[in-house]
Amino acid sequence: MKDIEKRKADHIHVSLSEKVYSDHNYWDDLHLIHDSLPEIDLEEIDTSIVLFGKKLSAPLMVTAITGGYLEAEKINHNLAKACASLGIALGIGSQRAAIEKGDRSSYEVIRDMGIPLVVGNLGAPQLIRQAKKDAFGADAARQALDMIGGDLLAIHLNYLQEVAQPEGDTRARGCLEAIRELAREVPCIVKETGAGISRETAMRLRGIGVRGFDIAGTGGTSFSKVEAYRSRQMGDIRCESIGQTFGEWGIPAPISLRLSQVGLPIIASGGIVNGLHATKCIAAGAQCAGLARAVLKDAMVSAEAVEDRLRIIIDELRVGMFLTGSSTIKQLSERRVVYTGPTREWGLELEVI
Ligand SMILES: Cc1cc2nc3c(=O)[nH]c(=O)nc-3n(C[C@H](O)[C@H](O)[C@H](O)COP(=O)(O)O)c2cc1C
Repeated sequence: MKDIEKRKADHIHVSLSEKVYSDHNYWDDLHLIHDSLPEIDLEEIDTSIVLFGKKLSAPLMVTAITGGYLEAEKINHNLAKACASLGIALGIGSQRAAIEKGDRSSYEVIRDMGIPLVVGNLGAPQLIRQAKKDAFGADAARQALDMIGGDLLAIHLNYLQEVAQPEGDTRARGCLEAIRELAREVPCIVKETGAGISRETAMRLRGIGVRGFDIAGTGGTSFSKVEAYRSRQMGDIRCESIGQTFGEWGIPAPISLRLSQVGLPIIASGGIVNGLHATKCIAAGAQCAGLARAVLKDAMVSAEAVEDRLRIIIDELRVGMFLTGSSTIKQLSERRVVYTGPTREWGLELEVI
């Protein structure tokens, strides 16, 4: 197995076998006000939204997970079939392997499936020249979108992961300019990978033509912890220590959601594992909820398993809407949110709640 393939396989297997998610799920600090007289019928609730011009049956996206090795083809097929059947959005994992090594089949498998919104994925570190490696430009971005029939490209920011990775790309100078150039050529959103987006970062990205954000805040999968496990297996005690030390680093997802509100659509993610979390993030200002870990185990099994899991999440969202008297997503977005615990402390300190 080539290095890049082994890394991708390791990420899946470590995420499934080790406790690599945050110690605290910050969405649990948010609460909605119960409406004991909702005056709507559960069946009449409409969960549909329009996101980036595409109609989704529910404000839900399975965000980037994998691609670029054999098992990834099965995972992506299962995710794609479920998302198409339910009419929700899908983001593919980093397409670096396809661009660098030409290994496309595990990505192409999601093409022409009838998914309403398909999001490609390239890493910000790959947009700038790294030691001995050329940068990806507009050509690579177009290739990435073409191979999946993508509507948008997500540029992922993952420097927390890179510093804890023995083979990590740690050059970050010039990233903003590289994103600006790419955003002129292809429609781009910017996504974090578990450490959240700050107000300053959101403002800078808005100013260079980015169309939206996936905040991927702290509270869910921690790539710092994932890399700590990989580093241990590789005998790299320096990176193992960095990965552990920074395992809880980042901006809590609900706080990043508040900070990123600069007038662009937001996918809120980082620790969303059920439909109540999705309900809360919409009430707190997101246009869409994003999740990865919540479907990972099922994605190894079958498309039906993924679909069953997502159907429950959508049903729970519907229940959350019913119990807050919200018959549409717009009404849900107007509901009051009560912040408690560490999220409240962060929110008061940063004056965002
Ligand atoms: C196994 C695994 C692989 C991932 N690979 C990518 C990736 O290639 N590109 C990316 O932008 N995010 C990647 N992510 C990050 C997710 O898209 C998401 O932002 C993050 O896991 C937080 O969501 P969660 O708490 O629901 O898992 C990956 C996540 C997991 C669990």
